[in-house]
This record gives sequence, structure tokens and C-alpha cells, in this order.
Amino acid sequence: MIGRRALCYASAPMAIFIDSSDPKEIADLFAWGVLSGVTTNPLIIAKESPDADLGECIRNVLAVSWGDVSVELTTETESEMLAEAELYHAWDPKRITIKVPFSETGLRVLHQLAKRNVKTNVTCLMAMNQAYLAALAGATYVSIFSGRVRDMGYDVRPVISGTRNVLEREGLASKIIVGSMRHLMDVNEALEAGAHVPTITPPILRKMVWHPRTIETINEFNTAWRNRGKK
Ligand code: E4P
Repeated sequence: MIGRRALCYASAPMAIFIDSSDPKEIADLFAWGVLSGVTTNPLIIAKESPDADLGECIRNVLAVSWGDVSVELTTETESEMLAEAELYHAWDPKRITIKVPFSETGLRVLHQLAKRNVKTNVTCLMAMNQAYLAALAGATYVSIFSGRVRDMGYDVRPVISGTRNVLEREGLASKIIVGSMRHLMDVNEALEAGAHVPTITPPILRKMVWHPRTIETINEFNTAWRNRGKK
């Protein structure tokens, strides 16, 4: 049955994806060795590369990264979405992950793609019940939007932990991506609540490195080393 595969959570490596379409940033951050994939969406691409051809933009992203690269559908009928998905999938069938906006039509498209073994990322999810349906229909990833849930005044942690619990209990193979991160604390909370994959913007990823006490300590050590032997 599509969507119910053997669980391997205990042995699956944790992953971080970068939420960007900027090849320069992506190349720079993949060099850290901490990233396993890329998520894009129409808003990110419209902001970062307003004049770019989508195919060229995604090929540039593929060239400087590894792992799954999510590309979102922008059409709205089932036949258009399937044709769009086919076009994107052909760019790199092993790595392109079709981001399917969640809706009744989205579920039908998702299920068709899952039956063809096309990787999918069901996006714009705000609630556990939505993620559960997407997982049942065969989603490779279900994307919960942390910042947008919080913008509505709700705590996103029960959405993430509830989704993780139901996926594990029902033996569903979908992995939970948590995106729409606004602050570093959102990343920590998503991981603690059970996200498999936080997808993080470049500025927030850089904040994960930074700590004033770390900088101070390294400076103290290096200053002592430079001044060794001096009275
Ligand atoms: C995730 O896959 C989305 O691209 C992204 O995180 C959406 O975030 P936003 O709420 O900042 O638009």
C-alpha cells in the first residue's frame, strides 16, 4: 500500500535542509557538511531571482547541492499539476521532489505521483490532521509551517509532536519537514518536538553557529598563544 513502508526512524540520519534558491548561498553553506537537501517555493524564487527562468534556477541549485531539491507546483488543476510535475521531475528524477500544495486536488495529484514513485513534499500544512492525510496518500515529506502556525496564535509544537506520534504509531514512512522558521528558537523547538528535517533560511543557519562565549573563548586561547613567552 502506498505510503505505508517499513519504518527505519532509529537508524535514519537526521537532516537539515536549506530553504533558499540562491546558488551562491547554497554552495557556501553546503561546504559546512551539515546540509542534506534544499527546499524552494515560488515566493522564495520570486524574491531571490525575480527574472530567472525556473528551470535554469533549479539546475543551478542542483549543481551546487546534493540530496533532495523541492520544487513547488504553481498550477491549480489536477491535469496541469501533473504535467508541471512531470516537467520538473525530468530535470533530475533522483533528486527533484515535487512540492504539492495541500488541498483536495493536491491529494489526488500527490497520490498519482506517489504511485509513480516520484518524490513528493506536501506543503503549507498547519495541522496534524492535514499531515496525516498527506502521509496516508503517500507523501515522501510533509511540511509543517512553524512561523505561519504561530502567526495565527497557536503553539506549533503539539502539531509537530502529534504528527510524529501518529506517523510512527501507524507505520507511515513520511518524514516531517518543519519550515517557515522565523527565529533560531523555532529550530530548537521543532527538533525537540520531533521534526525529522528542519528547513532553515541561510541567516538562521548562520545564527546556529554563533555564540558570544564561543567567540570570547577562542579569542582568549588565540591571544594567549600569540603572547606566549612574553612577559
Ligand atoms: C518550506 O518548505 C517553505 O519554503 C518555507 O519555509 C515557508 O516559509 P515562510 O512562512 O517564511 O514563507
